[in-house]
Amino acid sequence: MTLLQAEGLGRRVTNDRWLFRHLNISLAAGEQLALQGASGVGKSTLLNLLAGLDQPDEGRLLFEDKDLKIMGANEHLHLRRVAFGFVFQAFHLMPHLNALQNVMVPCLIAGLPLDQAKDRAKALLSALGLAAAYEQFPAVLSGGEQQRIALARALVHHPKIVLADEPTGNLDPITADLALELLCRSCREHNAALVMVTHSEKAAERLDRRLVLTN
Ligand SMILES: Nc1ncnc2c1ncn2[C@@H]1O[C@H](COP(=O)(O)OP(=O)(O)O)[C@@H](O)[C@H]1O
Ligand SMILES: [Mg+2]
Repeated sequence: MTLLQAEGLGRRVTNDRWLFRHLNISLAAGEQLALQGASGVGKSTLLNLLAGLDQPDEGRLLFEDKDLKIMGANEHLHLRRVAFGFVFQAFHLMPHLNALQNVMVPCLIAGLPLDQAKDRAKALLSALGLAAAYEQFPAVLSGGEQQRIALARALVHHPKIVLADEPTGNLDPITADLALELLCRSCREHNAALVMVTHSEKAAERLDRRLVLTN
């Protein structure tokens, strides 16, 4: 089954300059796609479009054969909250919540009981080597620690698709391997599709396919 389909997707940065155009992507449930290309080529912009966080200037996006544009605002919001997991390049953790609370949020929004949300969040954080950081707030954590919390938050509610923007970019090689392994395994276990922006050849090779954006 096609989970996410982009048809003729285009994004314009100025009136006469397109970042990309006529882009077709078809992603099946459980499929893992690496998104590559030089800095500034438009990877983050494309990921935001695929997540429905931003609007394309051309083309359309279908999720489970439904056009995101035709979908009502409530349905779209529900979809984004429940079916999508997103690791932002700049993490975007909530500063007033500690690590554990940040990771629990998607579960609570999806209506899971508090205990279950807490158990899942703890399991992920501890698998990522952050068992000692549950109570810590983002401001006192390193970039690498914040990145792993952002990764846990993208997986915790078992979304149908995970969109991850350089999710191991701030990690040392050993921790990066650990995080990548967890990300791929979690997606496989829940048959979630994965689109991952990465500059790492080794990371890209683990996934099913790759898409390289060029000018
Ligand atoms: N809203 C915007 N207005 C103008 N330029 C933008 C906007 N968003 C992105 N860009 C430009 O688009 C290009 C691609 O950005 P980005 O998607 O972040 O690239 P990547 O993630 O591949 O490094 C950059 O050159 C950036 O300056
Ligand atoms: Mg980027």
